[in-house]
Amino acid sequence: MSGELSPIDKAKFVAAKRAAEYVQSGMRVGLGTGSTAAWLVRCLGERVREEGLRFRGVPTSARTAELAREVGIEVISLEEAGWLDLTIDGADEFDSELNLIKGGGGALLQEKIVATASDEMIVIADAAKHVETLGAFPLPVEVIPFGWTASQALIEEALVTMDVLGRKTTLRMNGDQPYVTDEGNHILDLHLTRIGNARQLAMLVNQIPGVVENGLFIDICDRVIIGYGDGRVEIRDINAGTVSEERVEFLEDDNLFRDV
Ligand code: A5P
Repeated sequence: MSGELSPIDKAKFVAAKRAAEYVQSGMRVGLGTGSTAAWLVRCLGERVREEGLRFRGVPTSARTAELAREVGIEVISLEEAGWLDLTIDGADEFDSELNLIKGGGGALLQEKIVATASDEMIVIADAAKHVETLGAFPLPVEVIPFGWTASQALIEEALVTMDVLGRKTTLRMNGDQPYVTDEGNHILDLHLTRIGNARQLAMLVNQIPGVVENGLFIDICDRVIIGYGDGRVEIRDINAGTVSEERVEFLEDDNLFRDV
């Protein structure tokens, strides 16, 4: 990387580096998608190369699979793994109960399947992702392409009965074409501003024909590692009810930053 890392990149990096320490040899680990998760994959690749760490990774997207292979991680499918010891992933928003909005990067379906097939899920994020109430970030909903406009109309109708502030929905685009997920589906982004009852909304949306999954992760995340630009990390464990603070040392001329 040329030039300095931005404070936000440092925050993402230190959260990812600390989370990488939770991976032990022999584990089967779900690997998230997004810019923070990409730091994690690079940090784990470094541990594979320098410490001889041996674990198998289940990626949550084609792009994570490619990066994981590139950095020397053994990649297997979820079917091969059967079950996972741990999943580490980013998030677009998390609240104090560690409920999440995910899917800004379009990988929410595989991410949710992988996270729920794990004994533990750790979220890595910069502090800006922490919100009091979920919903400022548009909620991604994956729908099958067939009749997606009908699914959209039904979602908008359902939103009228929900405790949300906004009700606009948009089809995610990739240039002038609808965005296509790794599973060949489309994504509707729900601009809700504030979600009063995320649990109820998640259940309602998933009952609509054509909806495959939504980006609300309720009661799935066990721990969040929040990174700060000055190298501090805060670790919140929802099950133990603990919050601790640590410092992650890193050098900006680290090999990891060279090819980013
Ligand atoms: C991918 O589909 C998402 O769920 C990402 O995990 C989430 O958007 C966080 O991405 P960043 O780490 O890039 O913010």
